[in-house]
Amino acid sequence: MVRLQKVNGGNIWDIVGLSVFWSQKKFVADNKTSIIEAYASISSGGNVFTFGIYDDKTPVGFVMIGYGTDKYWKSPPKVAENNYNIWRFMIDKRFQHKGYGKAAFQLALDFIRTYPCGKAEKCWLSYEPENTTAEKLYSSFGFVPNGEKDVNEIIAVIDL
Ligand SMILES: CC(C)(COP(=O)(O)OP(=O)(O)OC[C@H]1O[C@@H](n2cnc3c(N)ncnc32)[C@H](O)[C@@H]1OP(=O)(O)O)[C@@H](O)C(=O)NCCC(=O)NCCS
Repeated sequence: MVRLQKVNGGNIWDIVGLSVFWSQKKFVADNKTSIIEAYASISSGGNVFTFGIYDDKTPVGFVMIGYGTDKYWKSPPKVAENNYNIWRFMIDKRFQHKGYGKAAFQLALDFIRTYPCGKAEKCWLSYEPENTTAEKLYSSFGFVPNGEKDVNEIIAVIDL
């Protein structure tokens, strides 16, 4: 059964050890970098949740969820204000194309809909224009581009 488990002292190195295919490295930061960014954001007043994605006891991926902005984030997109964000999402190369992405994405949205940082209208994310696998997955959950960009990444949004 697919489940999310908070990244903590007991599992951090398992999660840091997960990686995507070489050809996908341009689509997502490595998990070590993401966890460092989460720590820095939390230390700056940001709200961030980091989860390992597990199939029973096996770590298969990582998802990082944010809410709002923090004081060091230069030029955040308008939609970031008071809304949730699926900031990082990856399934390890050994476990892709087996349905884990879909299942974990649903769990991430279920978590967001518990409104851990308070009620919000929207959830947003961003992806590289050539990341057609991610684009297809996100649009199957109802995400639509809102016309904003995060550097060159397309921003897509759903109503919560
Ligand atoms: C995007 C990603 C998380 C999807 O995870 P996954 O576990 O492989 O996804 P699933 O097995 O649940 O499949 C989801 C859909 O994507 C399709 N898909 C998955 N891998 C694919 C591939 N290599 N080629 C074509 N389609 C693919 C599946 O067929 C499925 O579509 P369907 O429902 O129409 O059958 C994974 O490919 C990944 O980690 N990519 C690298 C990191 C990345 O791009 N993250 C997103 C950054 S915005």
